[in-house]
Amino acid sequence: MILLSAGGGADESNDDTLRIYLSLRPMTTNHSSLRLARPEPGSAGKFYIETYGCQMNQNDSEVVAAVLQADGFAHTASLDEADVVLINTCAIRDNAEQRIWGRLAEFRGLKRRRPGLLVGIIGCMAERLKDRLIEQEQTVDLVVGPDGYRSLPALVRQAAGGAKAVNVLLSREETYAEIAPVRLDRNGVTAFVSIMRGCNNMCSYCVVPYTRGVERSRDTETILAEVRDLFERGYREVTLLGQNVNSYRYGEVNFARLLARVAEVSPLLRVRFATSHPKDLSDELIETIAAWPNICRAIHLPAQSGSSRMLELMNRKYTREWYLGRIEAIRRRLPECSISTDLIAGFCTETPEDHAATLSLMREVGYEFAYMFKYSERPGTKAQRTMRDDVPEAVKTARLTEIINLQNELSLAANRRDVGRHFEVLIEGTSKRSADEVYGRTSQNKVVILPKMNYLPGDYVHVLITDCSSATLIGTPLC
Ligand code: SAH
Ligand code: SF4
Ligand code: F3S
Repeated sequence: MILLSAGGGADESNDDTLRIYLSLRPMTTNHSSLRLARPEPGSAGKFYIETYGCQMNQNDSEVVAAVLQADGFAHTASLDEADVVLINTCAIRDNAEQRIWGRLAEFRGLKRRRPGLLVGIIGCMAERLKDRLIEQEQTVDLVVGPDGYRSLPALVRQAAGGAKAVNVLLSREETYAEIAPVRLDRNGVTAFVSIMRGCNNMCSYCVVPYTRGVERSRDTETILAEVRDLFERGYREVTLLGQNVNSYRYGEVNFARLLARVAEVSPLLRVRFATSHPKDLSDELIETIAAWPNICRAIHLPAQSGSSRMLELMNRKYTREWYLGRIEAIRRRLPECSISTDLIAGFCTETPEDHAATLSLMREVGYEFAYMFKYSERPGTKAQRTMRDDVPEAVKTARLTEIINLQNELSLAANRRDVGRHFEVLIEGTSKRSADEVYGRTSQNKVVILPKMNYLPGDYVHVLITDCSSATLIGTPLC
């Protein structure tokens, strides 16, 4: 094995240093279905890609598709046709990784039937486990971390030649700025645009700074060029993505200024963003949203906990009171804005009082929507190294259930308030429920089902809300 190391090569489990290395391991297997010479477009073989995890991972798969297509590989949506199977993985919680191990076991059988098939693990779990993935699972031929996607064509060819390939080098600069992502499985109306990568926040429970490296922002002009191109191709909504979008800064351009410039592309283009860190939710940002009607009235503001003691242990850099101050600022200036959040149940040392504080925060804010999780200890994080994961599993489960039940109540109450009101809905496609219905979203990011009429994806329709469940609004067009 050739082992190149950078960043001091420290052991990831002992401090906050990111261990970075690239290794190439010769193997004897021969994969004859892929050509080794640089191929003509479309003739290098077919790749199939399966994506787990967050929106950034979905967008990364689109970058991967662009890189591979530029090098002569063709995308296939059918596993049966594939020469290369890529699994874009998530490492955020243990159950996310367990799913991938389960999927790899299935690929083991597939590979036995088709020995030429190459299996690649890319993304956050690849970055976390590095070549241990190859050691533990013979099915895996290549392992590529989130900053190594430009090297994928070469690594696939190397693996096809029989040498297992690993590139888990993290970068301080890589933003894939000039790569135009190939929109996989999109509806032609809404698209993700990554504006920054990595995270410097070091929340004590979180693996992301280790899997995605340090924060870096993408060149503003390349973002605007991508957005303009999407609009010209008929897209009507972009979601600007980053682990911490509101800490974006490229030269003089901060996130509020970037948002205004994206909104300026067209009044017919809706602009969303995810995810914001409360500490960077500035008044300037709130004012910018207020100034542009096409910046959506929906802010996802992960709280994680309602207890200031927990927030301190989590290294979130704000208190409950400070967070509520930001909510008040949003409510004051953007009264029609929906607010959603992420919450973790059962973090280290969480008491019944801390848990009660999370429930009371939820009531006080009245979240429209929440992603809710049980704390899952991640190797190498500060929490794993310095704290005890001491809340019993059954207690975590009971607390999470309470949080979910409360959120269902809050979501239903919020949706009931919308009944009888009018919204502009951007149509995204045909409803899964019925071919006679279409679905779209309000600016507040709520899904609305309405009769199909002659509506097409990309149309804006004024809708009266007539009914709801806790998850969906039902509407009728206002002509
Ligand atoms: N950068 C974003 C999202 C990060 S991951 C942010 O900070 O808001 C999405 C969510 O997963 C987090 O907000 C958090 O609620 C949850 N999460 C992260 N690490 C976790 C862990 N170890 N156990 C349980 N949930 C976790
Ligand atoms: Fe993880 Fe915190 Fe960064 Fe979000 S802000 S990705 S939770 S370290
Ligand atoms: Fe998962 Fe990586 Fe996203 S750990 S949540 S895929 S940044």
